[in-house]
Amino acid sequence: MGVVDIYSASSPCLIRAKTRVEGTKKRVVAMASIVPVEQQVNEGQQRLTGDSFIRTHLRKLSPYQPILPFEVLSSRLGRKPEDIIKLDANENPYGPPPEVFEALGSLKFPYIYPDPESRRLRAALADDSGLEAEYILAGCGADELIDLIMRCVLDPGDKIVDCPPTFTMYEFDAAVNDAAVIKVPRKSDFSLDIELIKDAVEQEKPKCIFLTSPNNPDGRRLLFYDSIINDEVLLKILALPILVVLDEAYIEFSTMESRMKWVKKHENLIVLRTSRLFGKLVFTWISIVVLSAILCIFPWLGLAGLRVGYGAFPLSIIEYLWRAKQPYNVSVAAEVSACAALQNPTYLENVKEALLQERERLYNLLKDFPFLNPYPSHSNFILCAVKSGMDAKKLKEDLAKMGVMIRHYDKKELKGYVRISVGKPEQTDVLIECLRRFN
Ligand SMILES: Cc1ncc(COP(=O)(O)O)c(C=O)c1O
Repeated sequence: MGVVDIYSASSPCLIRAKTRVEGTKKRVVAMASIVPVEQQVNEGQQRLTGDSFIRTHLRKLSPYQPILPFEVLSSRLGRKPEDIIKLDANENPYGPPPEVFEALGSLKFPYIYPDPESRRLRAALADDSGLEAEYILAGCGADELIDLIMRCVLDPGDKIVDCPPTFTMYEFDAAVNDAAVIKVPRKSDFSLDIELIKDAVEQEKPKCIFLTSPNNPDGRRLLFYDSIINDEVLLKILALPILVVLDEAYIEFSTMESRMKWVKKHENLIVLRTSRLFGKLVFTWISIVVLSAILCIFPWLGLAGLRVGYGAFPLSIIEYLWRAKQPYNVSVAAEVSACAALQNPTYLENVKEALLQERERLYNLLKDFPFLNPYPSHSNFILCAVKSGMDAKKLKEDLAKMGVMIRHYDKKELKGYVRISVGKPEQTDVLIECLRRFN
């Protein structure tokens, strides 16, 4: 036994490597096998199939079910994309401010790697939020940051607390990261069950808890308790020995201020935001087509992946995320779009106002249907219980045939519900006309 250069092409034997730590250096210590390489490979090939290389916990993973891309939907429904009313993914129907198209149209260096530290974007987000850029990290959507946090925090077998019904990516990413999920269901009014959370933390010793405020899919607005986590509740959870990831993906549509600045005071708090008002806008189908026309240097599909999310982190945590993140996670186009959108706060404010007004109109219209029970919302969607013998899945499918896409829920934690995103007034009108056919 000795130290062998396992990369040497001339090495005639298979090497079984072990690592040995010597001082601060790790060395590969290998034992040369006396069995010829060819024979071992042949034996191995008989036994091995591709999936035997996959990590054990991932072989049981159920895939995340994303929404269908617009063009696939269009061919399945046999309708032109512009004839589809898309109210199933909480996207913003108004498109980004003109500055985004201009900035993308005059991109100078799309062929150079982006800034790995997204400096311009983080400076713009710092201006927008009032929190210094050193606390902010940007990602390829908030989704990337959820996974990155788990990769940095969880050892295999660690536990997270999830409070369903909620955004299902927490559970999905926990499975990808080989973590166990302790479910502490929300109460029937969708508020958090603090006592159960405390018990779960005490008994199960989870590493972190994911909380969405306002929550998706309910966004529930009530007089006293609702899906917004108030200061008192948040402080109670922060007092527990657990990392709290507060997902504020829909905070703009509520009356609540973001807790981003709280990360300076609480070492166990992370706040996530998504660029819904400026980022999600970029990804609407029509925007992509227009952008593709402007940016003929980009393949159409390259733009569909343009995404921006960001988070506020205590300095003691952000340092590790910097080390572990993919170096070029925010593309040049994504950074440029987000910076350009942030230059026009008036436009973003107007879009928000339009959506808030439309949310109230939509809610009042939905209330009139005997088979729907809509909940007032803090968000850009409205959750409705489907009742009076009507089936939620069938309602969604029948509406899809009419070219109106909504989301339905038929799982243990939320059965017999649909969620409708707030669109433009004309989209609401089509939806209501279609719903009247069920009366
Ligand atoms: C609660 C919540 N968090 C995060 C996300 C993901 O945001 P992004 O599109 O920035 O990845 C979503 C998207 O629907 C969401 O509902």
